[in-house]
Amino acid sequence: MALITTKELFKKAYEGGYAIGAFNINNMEIIQAITEAAAELRSPVILQVSAGARKYAKPAYLMALVEAAMKETGIDVVLHLDHGADFEICKACVDNGFTSVMIDGSHLSFEDNVALTKKVVEYAHAHGVVVEGELGRLAGVEDDVKVAESDAIFTDPAEAERFVELTGVDSLAIAIGTSHGAYKFKTQPKLRFDILEEIGRRLPGFPIVLHGASSVVPEYVDEINACGGKLDGALGVPEDMLRKAASMAVCKINIDSDIRLAMTAAIRRVLKNQPEVFDPRTYLGEAREEVKKMVAHKIKNVLGSEGKL
Ligand code: G3H
Ligand code: 13P
Ligand code: ZN
Repeated sequence: MALITTKELFKKAYEGGYAIGAFNINNMEIIQAITEAAAELRSPVILQVSAGARKYAKPAYLMALVEAAMKETGIDVVLHLDHGADFEICKACVDNGFTSVMIDGSHLSFEDNVALTKKVVEYAHAHGVVVEGELGRLAGVEDDVKVAESDAIFTDPAEAERFVELTGVDSLAIAIGTSHGAYKFKTQPKLRFDILEEIGRRLPGFPIVLHGASSVVPEYVDEINACGGKLDGALGVPEDMLRKAASMAVCKINIDSDIRLAMTAAIRRVLKNQPEVFDPRTYLGEAREEVKKMVAHKIKNVLGSEGKL
């Protein structure tokens, strides 16, 4: 088994009108849950690592766990850096065997974003690694920094076209109304499908990435609140909107918050219903099962990637 790039996966996803799930990994249980679900459903999958994950679990542990998961489940996976902040972290991941990196220059000016992204593309491509860029700015929580809804900037389709031409990126994350974290919309969820459509028209066949794409599964939010948690007004992207995006130019859908919610709901459930439990394997085992169930549901009913491996 091997780590693979997104090149062929995105081509097939674009042509087939489905998307590949990019799930954030932070520990063994999460890695096992995602890869087991993907293997059982014969689905391609992207495992992505944020700077926070590297800090929490240490790169060497994550790499060893991913290798073990591939060996155990018999599937190839993409190992991707999520929200690379600078050239150095992208280079470190390329050098450490990642097959895909994201350089997130979305907070920079267009010119500086192009220059930084181009530099990463040159280095990554020389090493057979693909690159995701970002244009536009999402609201929400990222690396513990909160971007207010008023500071979010939708992606300009004409700029997206120029950005791809100038940088040579392999995929592009865009802002059409999704946001990071569990509080995505104050009222009715709304995405700018007109922007996605126009980008698809200007960049035919080019893979688009949707960040902040958790559904914030209402059943988990309810269960967490019923078991002593406090998630008031948590709201995510409805599944039918994600399916629509996947049928358009979106080939990669990023999911982290739903993993956090699945684990938290399961752990709270066990600790509430079985107060005598103090073996971490009991509640972490149930958390792993819940993440696996959630990922399987996404693959089958939201991403449309079942059987596409
Ligand atoms: O986009 C952000 C991801 O949800 C990763 O979150 O930086 O807390 O690991 P994190
Ligand atoms: P969510 O917070 O919606 O899961 O988004 C995760 C993400 O975009 C990771 O890059
Ligand atoms: Zn993101």
